[in-house]
Amino acid sequence: MKKLLFKIPALALCAMLFLSGCGDRQQTEEAERDLIVVGVSQLGAESEWRVANSESIKSVFTEEKGYRLLFDDARQKQENQILAVRKFIQQRVDYIVIVPLYETGWDSVLQEAHAAGIPVILADRMVSVEDDSLYATHIGSDFLHEGELAMQWLERNTDPEKPLRILDIKGTSGSSAQLGRTAALYSSVETHENWEIIAQLDGDFTRAKAYSVVQGYLSEQNEKPYIDVLYCENDDGAFGAIQALEEAGYVCGENGITVITFDATRASLEACMEGTISLAVECNPLIGPQIEATVRLIEHGGTPAKRQYAKEKCFTRDMLTETMIEKRQY
Ligand code: AHR
Repeated sequence: MKKLLFKIPALALCAMLFLSGCGDRQQTEEAERDLIVVGVSQLGAESEWRVANSESIKSVFTEEKGYRLLFDDARQKQENQILAVRKFIQQRVDYIVIVPLYETGWDSVLQEAHAAGIPVILADRMVSVEDDSLYATHIGSDFLHEGELAMQWLERNTDPEKPLRILDIKGTSGSSAQLGRTAALYSSVETHENWEIIAQLDGDFTRAKAYSVVQGYLSEQNEKPYIDVLYCENDDGAFGAIQALEEAGYVCGENGITVITFDATRASLEACMEGTISLAVECNPLIGPQIEATVRLIEHGGTPAKRQYAKEKCFTRDMLTETMIEKRQY
């Protein structure tokens, strides 16, 4: 239902009612009824990136701007996300934002939201559903493209004649961030005879898991494996993997393993400037303003583009300065 955005900020209205001495419950409820209710199902808090992403979303859906935000953290469980969305439907929220853990498994609950007439905005990751009219738009990253940027850089910066042994630290299996970044790696390996994936370990986008799987992998090998490239599907995974490799005597970065990572958080840019990380591919978590602008567009009768990708770039040591890193928001 279309509501009057920004007519009178809800808090200001409440304050006015209170100050004028007629702030009784009925009037407060009326003020609250003018708020646009947005239910957000966030997948979890697994990484630094995710923390920045949640903050970005929370910062735009405020009462001052005319919203009531219902924010649910699913703690890395898709069933929690589905429960949260069903609850939002029961509560008759005006919009549902889903930050989906996995690509599959969304058809039923999206059909339910559609039947209830509630627009769904997909944020960050994508879903795989047959009927794309079940969601209004996807606002996030093109993960395949991010992976391709990394592969193009690797091709430009390695000797085509020498063997290139790659250790892949995968993100959460079945998430679109993992699927896109891994797919780019697979297709590049296929077209380079000298490239080989020596192992793929599931780091689940967390530092702890990446550390433990790399440590486990190294301890299972009879001989210390040659590793030329560490392909980490996010920054937290990179830090965990680097720690395990360094503890096992490997050198990461210059004169050692080429480390590629995704996100380009402040910590990874610092490591890039110090030379431990060779390439940081940006993945922008600060999509809250774009989500809010989309809600506003729909409120005013507009139709958002089906795909809205964030602008992202790659960072190498030569491009970075301390001031640049200090200014970074995440
Ligand atoms: O979906 C985006 C990915 O998820 C980010 O690369 C990662 O850090 C996060 O956990």
